Amino acid sequence: MIARQPIAVTRRGFMATLARIGAFSLLGTRTVSAGVPNNSLREFELQLEPSTAPLLGTEYPKVNVWAFNGQIPGTEIRVRQGERVRIAVTNRLDQETTVHWHGLRVPNAQDGVPHLTQKPIPPGSRYMYEFDCLDAGTFWYHPHTRSVEQVGRGLYGAFIVEERKPLDVDRDVVWVLDDWQFTRAGQLSDAFYNLHDVTHGGQIGNVVSLNGTTDTLPLRLRGGERVRLRLINAANARIFALNFTGHAPRVVAYDGQPVAPHAPVDDHVVLGPAMRVDVIIDATGEPGKSYPVRDTFYRRFAYELTDLVYDTEPLRRKPLPDSLALVPNPLSEPDLKAMQTHEIRFQGGAMGQMQHAKLNGRLVDIREMVRAGKAWAVNGVVADGHVLDPILTLQRGRSYRLTLINDTAWPHPIHLHGHSFRVIRRNDRPTARNEWQDTVLIPPRESADIAFVADNPGDWMFHCHILEHQEAGMMAVIRVA
Ligand code: C2O
Ligand code: CU
Repeated sequence: MIARQPIAVTRRGFMATLARIGAFSLLGTRTVSAGVPNNSLREFELQLEPSTAPLLGTEYPKVNVWAFNGQIPGTEIRVRQGERVRIAVTNRLDQETTVHWHGLRVPNAQDGVPHLTQKPIPPGSRYMYEFDCLDAGTFWYHPHTRSVEQVGRGLYGAFIVEERKPLDVDRDVVWVLDDWQFTRAGQLSDAFYNLHDVTHGGQIGNVVSLNGTTDTLPLRLRGGERVRLRLINAANARIFALNFTGHAPRVVAYDGQPVAPHAPVDDHVVLGPAMRVDVIIDATGEPGKSYPVRDTFYRRFAYELTDLVYDTEPLRRKPLPDSLALVPNPLSEPDLKAMQTHEIRFQGGAMGQMQHAKLNGRLVDIREMVRAGKAWAVNGVVADGHVLDPILTLQRGRSYRLTLINDTAWPHPIHLHGHSFRVIRRNDRPTARNEWQDTVLIPPRESADIAFVADNPGDWMFHCHILEHQEAGMMAVIRVA
């Protein structure tokens, strides 16, 4: 049973939407920038600051947020593959921060994990990050300090690395998806770490935004047009499953990494927190018509995210030819015959079986854990802070298979820093496409086998990207030495 929600929710008053899941839209149009020579240095400034943003649309008062350069999403970083970036980060918050470049294979010291890879950036200070953009694709950036609140209040932005030879499309469009917990007074709730959310599925907000607003702007298309839609899930905990009614989108990349072009599984593009999917949409609809894009992940709360709306004049009569394959990134191919295998279990949470786990070196029971604000564990250890004894020390240059077992009643998007990995098996059966990812969504009681070459030295975070779960213990460190 899917109730279709009116589009112009904000115009009827957002109060009415709080009871349900609000959902809306905005079109982000970007033209691919002209060719830039490789190995050039590109400089960016990012300031983390308290700000106000028209999250609920222009007819409602602005909302107090924290934002990069005062915008949600933050300033888009867009470079060409092979370029080097130098990013000056200024902290105008009243608390420490760090910035993580999610999915980019950067040197360990540039990875933005507090205490593990750098000292946090104190309030009022500036910090320089600098690295080469090895892989083309759709990435994003966000703080990795107190991220439940910092990301939850709006600190994130898209990081796009264009291919040296881009796909032939008419437009490149970025949709950054997020959700928010609003109070009746029309401001963000301050309750960023309530124990119910922490022990269950994380904080699922009551309003969904697209590119930082709930205002209704459809994606306008012209017949025959080809759009590359880069989807980024920046929510703390919400999972999206997007259905493009009346269209046949093709997935060309997961988490920035090319995959054999294919129709979304079961007609839905699924994005767990932190995941990205690039889809190609050919405008095959009828002139003047409108087609809803729906999110049906939480079936009882299915809603309409936005619409694809057709102009009356087509752009071209015949669709473009089917040349959608992206050039692969320079990732080391794991040697499937010589891999060492390790098993990693994700445990805890409401309705789980975990009774005890180690917290700061001591075996504690689940009640004591919850009193300490913790609820989750990796291989029997509850993480506290970011500096942890490694659960694994991998030999640099060797191939590894990690069997990730979700021993809980909740889905978890598991993210490894510093590497991309192939998802080679699910529930002990081979996957259809061996897709490269940096974040793998594992449903309750299921498993996924990932394979990769440990080729980036350092101590790397390995954690659930439901930020409340990470903070509550579902985090570990993997060392590559
Ligand atoms: Cu999006 Cu540990 O990162
Ligand atoms: Cu989780």
